[in-house]
Amino acid sequence: MQLFWLSLLPCLYVTSLCSAEQGLEFPSFDGKDRVLHINERNYKKALKMFDMLCLLYHEPQPAHKGRQKQLQMTELVLELTAQVLEDKDIGFGMVDSQKDAKVAKKLGLEEEGSLYIFKDDRVIEFDGELSADTLVEFLLDVLEDPVELISNPMELRAFERMEEDIRLIGYFKGEDSYYKAFQEASERFQPYIKFFATFDKATAKHLSLKMNEVNFYEPFMEEPAILPGRQLSEMEIVEFVHQHKRATLRKLRAEDMFETWEDDLDGIHIVAFAEEEDPDGYEFLEILKDVARDNTNNPELSIVWIDPDDFPLLTTYWEKTFKVNLFKPQIGVVNVTDADSVWLDMSNDEDLPTAEELEDWIEDVLSGKVNTEDDDDVKDDYDYDRVDREDRHHGDDHEDHGDYDDHDDSD
Ligand SMILES: *[C@@H]1O[C@H](CO)[C@@H](O)[C@H](O)[C@H]1NC(C)=O
Repeated sequence: MQLFWLSLLPCLYVTSLCSAEQGLEFPSFDGKDRVLHINERNYKKALKMFDMLCLLYHEPQPAHKGRQKQLQMTELVLELTAQVLEDKDIGFGMVDSQKDAKVAKKLGLEEEGSLYIFKDDRVIEFDGELSADTLVEFLLDVLEDPVELISNPMELRAFERMEEDIRLIGYFKGEDSYYKAFQEASERFQPYIKFFATFDKATAKHLSLKMNEVNFYEPFMEEPAILPGRQLSEMEIVEFVHQHKRATLRKLRAEDMFETWEDDLDGIHIVAFAEEEDPDGYEFLEILKDVARDNTNNPELSIVWIDPDDFPLLTTYWEKTFKVNLFKPQIGVVNVTDADSVWLDMSNDEDLPTAEELEDWIEDVLSGKVNTEDDDDVKDDYDYDRVDREDRHHGDDHEDHGDYDDHDDSD
């Protein structure tokens, strides 16, 4: 009987394809509506019914055909996510910012296009790329315990390798200790900031953690910021995280890309493009990390690192908007109001800039000497021949090319 079922099952799933191979099958929408249209009558029930409720707060039904399609596509992303996570007790809903304005206000939904996740008595805002992949991964993270315990050398090594993430780790006596405050604090940042704890003496010793001490690791930093061990309250830990959470070098991630972009430095971002898998990109990143480590105490400085490999759909858009070649590492300043940008000229060197050269350039950016505005009228300072020669396989129009040349400009 069992054998009969085993042989029948595969055919049930792929009647149309009927290939002999099994084991890789992307889910496709099965047509069953799972996403609720939330209104004043059903929102309370929806909140009670599920462990977790995800509400997309969206613009009113647009008149424009293309935008209507876009909204339908977004709803389909939610449908597919709901389908994939069907047995996880997560509810999904849409809230129209006009028709359901009252409910939105009651629930505290503010930003159109954001997804709000209601879990226990918390609300987590998802302000990232609305794709099913990203969303499923994000929601699975939210379902996990907000604190991960480290109790052996293997877990410790994994912790030490997570250099791209903001991580906190605390050393406590056990579950019934000041650990409780740490756990409560962690819930406020889940899943964006990772919280770890250990009750193990050897692990604590390896990390030089004292009892009840909490350490904060900024991305790419070797040395943590230390919150000394004493009776820490939840609010003290929360404060400490807020103080440190804007990293000197932060990687753009699909799950919170819009939030990162909104956290600009007085209207600009210093953006570095580098593919980690590419030798040049890797080298450049190592230099960038050195610069970040040297300047970690500068609160003015935060560099957004974008690995184009993570955002294939955006690569051509960026190349057009910023007029740069993303097959090579680039660093520049972007004005977030109009996406105007200037890029450090690295085209005439065989080698990548040194950490010192990069630091000088960053200093010029922070002091305003390098900015996106100066080249707006006068564009004859630059050697366009060279730029064209370097980028010619790109076939782009370089009319607006605002390359900054550090050799011309150094006094
Ligand atoms: C960014 O661009 C806007 C619009 O062009 C301009 O008004 C603003 O001054 C620029 N900001 C910076 C910091 O350059």
